[in-house]
Amino acid sequence: MIQTHPVRSSSPLSFDSPWMVEAETAFKEDYPAFDTTTLLDELRATEYARLDTQGQIYLDYTGGGLYASSQLREHMRLLDSHVFGNPHSSNPTSQAMTGLDEQARAFVLTFFNASPDEYTVIFTPNASGALRLVGEAYPFAPNGHYLLSFDNHNSVNGIREFARAKGAPIAYVPLEATELRMDETVLFSLLEQVRGNDHRLFAYPAQSNFTGVQHSLAWIKEAQDRGWDVLLDAASFVPGNRLDLSRWHPDFVPISFYKMFGYPTGVGCLLVRKAVLAKLQRPWFAGGTVKTATVQGDWHVMADGAAAFEDGTINYLHLPAVEIGLKHLLTIGMETIHTRIVCLTGWLLDNLQSMKHRNGMPLIQLYGPRTTALRGGTIAFNFLMPDGRIVDERLIDRRAARARLSLRTGCFCNPGAGEAAFGITKQLLRERFEDKQNLSTDEYLIALGLQSAGAIRISLGLVTNVADVSRFLQFAQSFLDTFPIEHDLSPRVHC
Ligand SMILES: Cc1ncc(COP(=O)(O)O)c(C=O)c1O
Repeated sequence: MIQTHPVRSSSPLSFDSPWMVEAETAFKEDYPAFDTTTLLDELRATEYARLDTQGQIYLDYTGGGLYASSQLREHMRLLDSHVFGNPHSSNPTSQAMTGLDEQARAFVLTFFNASPDEYTVIFTPNASGALRLVGEAYPFAPNGHYLLSFDNHNSVNGIREFARAKGAPIAYVPLEATELRMDETVLFSLLEQVRGNDHRLFAYPAQSNFTGVQHSLAWIKEAQDRGWDVLLDAASFVPGNRLDLSRWHPDFVPISFYKMFGYPTGVGCLLVRKAVLAKLQRPWFAGGTVKTATVQGDWHVMADGAAAFEDGTINYLHLPAVEIGLKHLLTIGMETIHTRIVCLTGWLLDNLQSMKHRNGMPLIQLYGPRTTALRGGTIAFNFLMPDGRIVDERLIDRRAARARLSLRTGCFCNPGAGEAAFGITKQLLRERFEDKQNLSTDEYLIALGLQSAGAIRISLGLVTNVADVSRFLQFAQSFLDTFPIEHDLSPRVHC
């Protein structure tokens, strides 16, 4: 049972106020495992020193991870001391690059403990690129199905358009109130209801980028045993958790590397089981994806394996930096990173939920799990005024920016989790939006009767420390017993 540390609204807001010192001491008592992660404090002071030099409080790890200075140095040294050409040719500079790129590909498998007999790695520009590859090549058909959870990034939702175009039925698994998780009984009955001879794909995130909920990895096998292929979106899970592909065997796993270790951007991958790769049908061919193609003969033969899915020239100079980044995480240890995130998330949740206005009303409304059980370090909530009204998220954005606090507001490209969190039903959407889907965000909010455009999201990661969380709690305290309203907020351009 997690203890809470009540915060009195009369507490002074100084960083080393008695409350803060007391709370930190209690934190160390409640989360003794935090002491096993001190390596990360040392790294923060050396490899990530720019954060503190510039006074930045970075709480947007689900948006993007941060890189260590050594990752940059090592990559630059490599580039600066070699001559690299476009890979997959026989000249020496090309061969040098091919060797390093294939080494990076093999290292991705090693990192995820994936057998090269079972899995292959397709490099993509990002997780969305990996998802698009699945969507456009999956053999959806009228007797098949696309089943996905409400809780999904839009890049997974978007696959439904490929399914629809090929006549495949589409269904969503709803989220249950409060914790915003899927009900296992509902999920299993949906997995069982659907029969048919064509291919069936079930897609869900290992960790929600909205609520931080970690959905059960045991569902991978449950779905596969019922005849489904499984797409496990691991983009927001793998930066803070170990994904062991010798234990779990999803068919498709999209990833963006910058979310794991900050640098480089522009590289992601699709980890795919070789057994299902064979059933994908690419809708086109491109440079690098074919063994042969003729103009006059009007035919082409696709390359084998991953090569058939990497269109044109891959981001070859950046692939060695992927290996450098993965090795950096291994040196720290995914367990250490995970422990750190769990402890600080617990502390943050305890304190945020115990903050009350003087009239007893809570300071925040949380969307998602209340404790650290089965969740990651992503927390979505809204600040409430003493009368229960939601504080405009644009005002939070503005004040956070002044405090050099990087957080997010909106619906985080996850409309399904947002609809579940704010109680927006299908019927309401039908009633209010028939024939008028092209509204501005503000018109949309008015039509739905919402007070703000989504939620505030803070997300913890690799080098979050006690000071970051303390500073955020201080920021939160500044809203106690106030009615913050500003009249010059710009119109919202997106949710
Ligand atoms: C769960 C999840 N899936 C997919 C994506 C898409 O990642 P990218 O924008 O790097 O393609 C994100 C990005 O935030 C995400 O959080």
